[in-house]
Amino acid sequence: MGKITISVIKADIGSLAGHHIAHPDTMAAASRVLAEAKSKGVIIDFYVTHVGDDIQLIMTHGKGENSPEIHGLAWEAFKAAANVARDLGLYAAGQDLLSEAFSGNVRGLGPGVAEMEIEERPSEPIITFHADKTEPGAFNLPLYKVFADPFNTAGLVIDPRMHDGFRFQILDVYEGKAVTLNAPEELYDILALIGTPARYVIKRIYRKDGLLAAVVSSERLNLIAGKYIGKDDPVAIVRAQHGLPAVGEVLEPFSFPHLVAGWMRGSHHGPLMPVGMKDAKCTRFDGPPRIIALGWQVKNGRLVGPADLFADPAFDEARRLAQQIADYMRRHGPFMPHRLGPEEMEYTTLPQVLERLADRFEKVEEAPKGVHKERSKML
Ligand code: F6R
Ligand code: MG
Ligand code: MG
Repeated sequence: MGKITISVIKADIGSLAGHHIAHPDTMAAASRVLAEAKSKGVIIDFYVTHVGDDIQLIMTHGKGENSPEIHGLAWEAFKAAANVARDLGLYAAGQDLLSEAFSGNVRGLGPGVAEMEIEERPSEPIITFHADKTEPGAFNLPLYKVFADPFNTAGLVIDPRMHDGFRFQILDVYEGKAVTLNAPEELYDILALIGTPARYVIKRIYRKDGLLAAVVSSERLNLIAGKYIGKDDPVAIVRAQHGLPAVGEVLEPFSFPHLVAGWMRGSHHGPLMPVGMKDAKCTRFDGPPRIIALGWQVKNGRLVGPADLFADPAFDEARRLAQQIADYMRRHGPFMPHRLGPEEMEYTTLPQVLERLADRFEKVEEAPKGVHKERSKML
């Protein structure tokens, strides 16, 4: 067996009763397209699921990352699903398919993509993470803990195969640039960047010997489209065990439901709640932001699984804490820091509301003078 590629490609093509859950018929339509491709040998294996209003295609194949054939297949699957969504009158049908024309790669057209080409190990445990009502930077904190924090990952201390640490490729999604930094040597520099998750996003993590250990989708729809389309509901693929963090070490950070950007109208901070697949729907205030974790063994490209990893009482306290945080944050109503800050609100519909007030402002003596020009915009 040569190299195999795992491609997780997701899109919101419309959902049932608002933006809260994908309809099973749309997933069936996507599955039919992928099943046919599997029967023709285009892909080795696939699995279709959802979290909230996003359909998730998990595919294995031998065609490498950014394969036009695989991206084209995903595009066809989403289009078939969107047609069903239109027939059923589902809400926001076709939402993430930003263009009519496919041009070889789904990146930039709406869907989110995490792909890794790997040399399969004799036993290859992999976790795919799928989140709704949040953004790619939501993975910054947990992945930092998994691959750089010895208080989370005992293996960083105990296992000689990962004792040298990991390399973090970090994207600046505003500038379209990337930097690669070493852990533990440059931990503080890593944190100086990824503590701003709206802009700096962990893209890939490599073991020091070059083995690719994790990859995150980094599409930011609002930046692509220049206006609010929805949050970017990210996905990630993480390899585990045998000289990498154990499955339990990869899951451990999610026992802390950290605050992420997204939730209602993509405009609020809220806790990221780890849930089993049966709870992968966004109800309260269109949330709270949710994440599922699917455990797989990949064998000759075959996807064995999934194990529904957060469907476990061990995460009950995290869910309870997330509820309490949700209560606490909600009581701020339209106030920051529940509502996102001005830079992020720029891509929502709030500027249109503020625009209407612009003419009603008059100069007064009390107003501070000399405000920096860029900061004098209403947002
Ligand atoms: C957030 C999300 C929802 C919608 C909200 C308003 O990512 O999908 O919270 O933003 O339900 O939706 P519209 O504007 O379609 O009524
Ligand atoms: Mg939606
Ligand atoms: Mg979504």
